[in-house]
Formats: sequence, C-alpha cells, structure tokens
Amino acid sequence: MKFLILFGILFKLSSADFYCDCSNKQTFSAEFNVEWFFAAPDGYIRHVLGINRQFPAPVIHVCKGDTIKITVINKIDAPTSIHWHGMFQYGTLTSDGVPGVTQCAIQPGDYYQYKFHTDYQAGTYWYHSHYSVQYIDGLKGALIIHDPKDPWISAYEDEDILMLTDWYHTLALDLEAYYLSPASNGTEPIPDTALINGIGQYNCSLVNKCSYYDTIIQVNTTKRFRIINTSAFAVFVLTIHGHKMRMIEADGVNLDGNIIVDSLRINAGQRYSVLVHANEQNPKRNYWIQATIDSDVMASAPVQPTVKAILRYVDENGCYVSSKKPINSHLNSTDDNLKILDSIHEGDQFIDIYSSLVPLDSPVPQQSTKKVLIEIEFYANDENVNLAHFNNISFLHLMDTTLLSLTRAQQPYPQSNNVQIIQYGDIIDIILNNHDTGEHPIHLHGHIFWILAAGKTNDGDYNSSQVVLNTLNPLARDTASINPISYMVLRFEANNPGLWMMHCHIDWHLQAGLALVWAEAAELLHYKYGLSKELDVCAAY
Ligand code: C2O
Repeated sequence: MKFLILFGILFKLSSADFYCDCSNKQTFSAEFNVEWFFAAPDGYIRHVLGINRQFPAPVIHVCKGDTIKITVINKIDAPTSIHWHGMFQYGTLTSDGVPGVTQCAIQPGDYYQYKFHTDYQAGTYWYHSHYSVQYIDGLKGALIIHDPKDPWISAYEDEDILMLTDWYHTLALDLEAYYLSPASNGTEPIPDTALINGIGQYNCSLVNKCSYYDTIIQVNTTKRFRIINTSAFAVFVLTIHGHKMRMIEADGVNLDGNIIVDSLRINAGQRYSVLVHANEQNPKRNYWIQATIDSDVMASAPVQPTVKAILRYVDENGCYVSSKKPINSHLNSTDDNLKILDSIHEGDQFIDIYSSLVPLDSPVPQQSTKKVLIEIEFYANDENVNLAHFNNISFLHLMDTTLLSLTRAQQPYPQSNNVQIIQYGDIIDIILNNHDTGEHPIHLHGHIFWILAAGKTNDGDYNSSQVVLNTLNPLARDTASINPISYMVLRFEANNPGLWMMHCHIDWHLQAGLALVWAEAAELLHYKYGLSKELDVCAAY
C-alpha cells in the first residue's frame, strides 16, 4: 500500500528557503516558558523540563545575519538560564547565559531577555540550560543557522536534524547528589537509554509498541542530516544502515567533504552534518538510523544503549515505497549492531578523525603569542568527594554576583573561578594534558579553536619536541574531545572581548568543577557594559 505525502513542500529544491526566506535580515523573536511537565519519550513516564511544554525544546531556524531575541520566563521553582552553544556573542556577552559569569541566574517567576546576532556564523548549533544539571532533564533544543551561500547548499535537496541524547529515568538533581557524594567514588551516573529527537525505545516488549522518529528521503536525492549530541555523558556511534555519510560540517565549520564514513562517533556538545544519498540502495524498503551509546567509557552499560529512527524512502511522487518497518527490528541482536560495537572498540580511529577531517578553509594564525598549560585531574577533596580540576582548581560557580560585575567594579576574581587573563589580539595555544583515564569533550564559549594536535589514548603529556603541530589545514570547532591519558593543542584568537567559559561538556564533570574562564580583553568590557563601582548582587534563591 502506498501512502500519499501531502507536504509537497518537502521537495522544494532549496532546503534553506524551505525554512526561511533569507533575502533580508530578520529578527526571530520568541517567548520561552521554562516549565516541568510529564512525558514518556521512551515509554517511561517522568517529569521532563521543557520549553513551552515541549521536549525537545522548539527548534530555532534562522538565516545567517538574523537576530535572535528570546525572552526566557522562569516558571519553575529553581533558578535557570539558557546558553546558546557555539554562538560567538560578539558584543553581547550578557546573552551567553552562564550564571555567575555573564548573568545572574533567572530566579523563579522572573524573566531575562537574550538578544544576539548571527552575522559571522552558520551551521548546526544548539541551546541548553547552563544552570545546574537542568539540561539533562530536557531543557535543550536545536538552533540552525541557514546560509544561502553555504558551499554545500547545491549538494542536497532536503535536510533534517538528528538530535541525540542520553536519557535517565531519575531526576538529574538526584543523580548529581549521588555523583557528588563519597558513595559514588567518582563514578558517573549511567543513563538508562538514548533518544533521537525526543523519541526512544527503552523496552519495546513492555510498551509493546515502540515509536520511532521518522524521516523521509526521496529516491535519487541527497539529504543533509544535522547530528547533534546533546548528552550529559554519552558518546554516540551513529549509523544509517546501507548508507554512507559524507561529512560536510563540524560545529559550524564547513568541511571539504572528502571523508565518507559508515559510522560516526560524536561526543557530548559536538555536531556534524552529513550528506546521505538515496540511490545505490534497494529503493523498495526502509532503513534504520541507529545511535548506540559507547558503553566502554562508562562503568557499566545502559539497560538499553541503542535508539533507532526510521529512514523512509519515498518515490518521485512522494509516496512511501513501503509501509513496513526496516528489517532487523531487534534492538540488541542484529549483525549491524555487532558491526557497530566493533567499530566502537576501534574508538581511537574515530577520534583520530581530527587529523582526517579537513575544513574547506583554515585561516589558522601561524604563530601563537601565548601558551597556557592546562592539566586535567580528578581527585577527592577532604570530604572524600571526587572533584574535577583544571590545574588543581575545581571550579565553583559564583552565586551572589557575576564575573562580569567583578570586572566592571574592578574587583579581584575568586581563585575558584580559575580566571585566565588574556589580551586583545593574543593568539593562545592551550596545551591540554589529560591525566585522567576518561575522555573529555572540551568546549570553549565565544570562539572556535583550531586543533593543532591531538594524541591517542595513553600517549601521555604533550611533548613539543616530538609532536608536529598542524598549522596547514587543522580542523576548527567549538568542542573537541581529549583522549584518556593524552594531550591536545588548541589554538584560538582573542578577538572577542568577554568572559568565556571553557569546560568539559560531560555535565557531571562540569558540576564536579572541570571548568575555567578566559577573561579576554576584560578592560574593554567597561566600554560596552559600563563601569560600575558597585558590585551587582544576584537575587538570593
Ligand atoms: Cu553547551 Cu558551556 O556549554
């Protein structure tokens, strides 16, 4: 039986004008109500933290150059804030959304307006609460900046988002309380399962009818998938059965498209765009899109580490070619799954992707003006709680004021905020040595960094006499994963005065203190944000 698809709109030739008319600059305005509600994304009902009672939170589609203006209204009984992951926030530091750094947390019943432009960037981004562990409970959504001049735009006819997340059946605050207690011994909470665009299949025999996220592809066309890992902890390996993926974007940076993969490993905070072509396949059937949590990096495996979505073929007329589910419907026992697990165990091969992914252009500064050595270590404090440290400092969020306010009032920064002072125009080389046995996705606010070198697992500390830095065509992005007992060298340009957090995007590790703040040309912040002798006091919660 054939099903007619009513949305002829799906087959418009340019995906960019499907979403928005990019012919003139616009302002995307919205009210975001932060609220709890009940939902069962994977068949298990729980309290979910959403925006306007939606989970995942609404997708924001804008064009490059548009302004985004969003009023966040706090309707829960805890403070909140929203960070726009990957946005440079040129001149709009107070919209970066980090409580204790760029703003006071938004108190219950209060609101805050975020307003920023998208002049110098395009691609796949996301947004999430930056307060406590709220994004783990659901407060996150996709943010797509379309560019009519995207170098890949003529290579695909349609596009969709695959937003991945790990998913927990216990409220994040309870998990965090356990994690940051002596009892956990530093072992991170294990997710129960995973979701694609807010849909998962925790236990199909119990629920007896699992639902799947559905996405269509028209035969003989190419579709762009924007893959976003919004996990608290999980690294995903994603496959689209029977299809290869051409990698064209990493964190808003366009790639040369020469890397084509069967499976893709993606860490928390990272994004990729891939092109999938629908013609060398058997066009009379549907295919699984499958994301599996890499449980090797966890103390134990999730109950259901795999989530699936359906890639549905439609013919030239937009009719489904098959009403059947893809074959191999058992989540844990297919050959494909085994293949995926194999590829997971080759983990390093995927991380090595940093040396194989080549951006379309790489305007990397050839020399640095400053080197900053940063060491990652986890160890227990006096209360036997395992904390995370950059250079022996475990980050503690300011509650009663912000670093921006301290800057304006010319007061010293607390040591626990690990503030690194840099000057306008500095070219910084961050030499990161990971002394921990875990992998850490390091994210920098307000910038992208070039990955000049990245060691394999157990390579140990960076050794400048042995490692050649790639200053020819290094990949730039905003979130890069450092291997266990290994190093990375990241270069970035201080071209954006502000107070920019850098942290591990495993949310448990951020809560355990794996964060610091770059005070970049902080003396210039007075001009933009005013000089104030008084210290701003954040309303007490
Ligand atoms: Cu998406 Cu500070 O993070």
